Amino acid sequence: MAIRYLIAGNWKMHGTPTLAAALAGELANAFTDPDAHDLELLVCPPAPLLAVVRAAIGSGKLLLGAQDCHPREEGAHTGDVSAQMLFEAGCSHVIVGHSERRTDHGEDDALVRAKAVAAQAAGLVPIICIGETLAEREDGRAVEVVLGQLSASLPPACSAYNAVIAYEPVWAIGTGRTPTGRDIADMHSAIRGALPGLATGAEGMRILYGGSVKPDNAGEILAIANVDGALVGGASLDAGSFLKIAASRP
Ligand code: 13P
Repeated sequence: MAIRYLIAGNWKMHGTPTLAAALAGELANAFTDPDAHDLELLVCPPAPLLAVVRAAIGSGKLLLGAQDCHPREEGAHTGDVSAQMLFEAGCSHVIVGHSERRTDHGEDDALVRAKAVAAQAAGLVPIICIGETLAEREDGRAVEVVLGQLSASLPPACSAYNAVIAYEPVWAIGTGRTPTGRDIADMHSAIRGALPGLATGAEGMRILYGGSVKPDNAGEILAIANVDGALVGGASLDAGSFLKIAASRP
């Protein structure tokens, strides 16, 4: 079956209502029906900008996602948002377990899994992030670490439709450094190989690559076997760059 590429923009803590509306409007206008055949284009703005981005998308096919959710349905959790709230705000996806949340907020695999389960229960597709640090790679433990995170972070029921994996080597995020094509291929193949043993229906899940994806390297990265899309940080804040990355799919 042909791959339906998912190109996701993680805006992180960037944007104002005016900038967000302009960026989303430009993307929504440029992303037309023929593109939608083999491509899902997703933007994940900060939570307070979800409504303005939703309005800018209008009836367009650009998808809306969030950057995090709480594992509980509701309750006394100051500062958090539930998956159901995100669904009702018009989201289809939510990133969980991004390395910046694992580092900044001490999130561990068990919490990431609980968030992914909550997302699925609310009808959202969790984008579950995993990735090794530079020290772990230099120790020769990258595959072991990533497969460990994978097995502990995946919800019990995963399919090509209800969850996505994003492999993001921590040392490649925002640094302009990327692994070699061979290293990406080896890691994605290791992840693909592990999936059938980890969750019911997981073998067809899409595996995104993230970490310094730019217009000039996207073509090479997206052509690698078992790379089913990209999770893009910095380059997703510019409509032209983000669309060029999407257009680089094989
Ligand atoms: P950069 O594309 O800026 O390296 O960020 C990657 C990332 O963290 C996406 O989630």
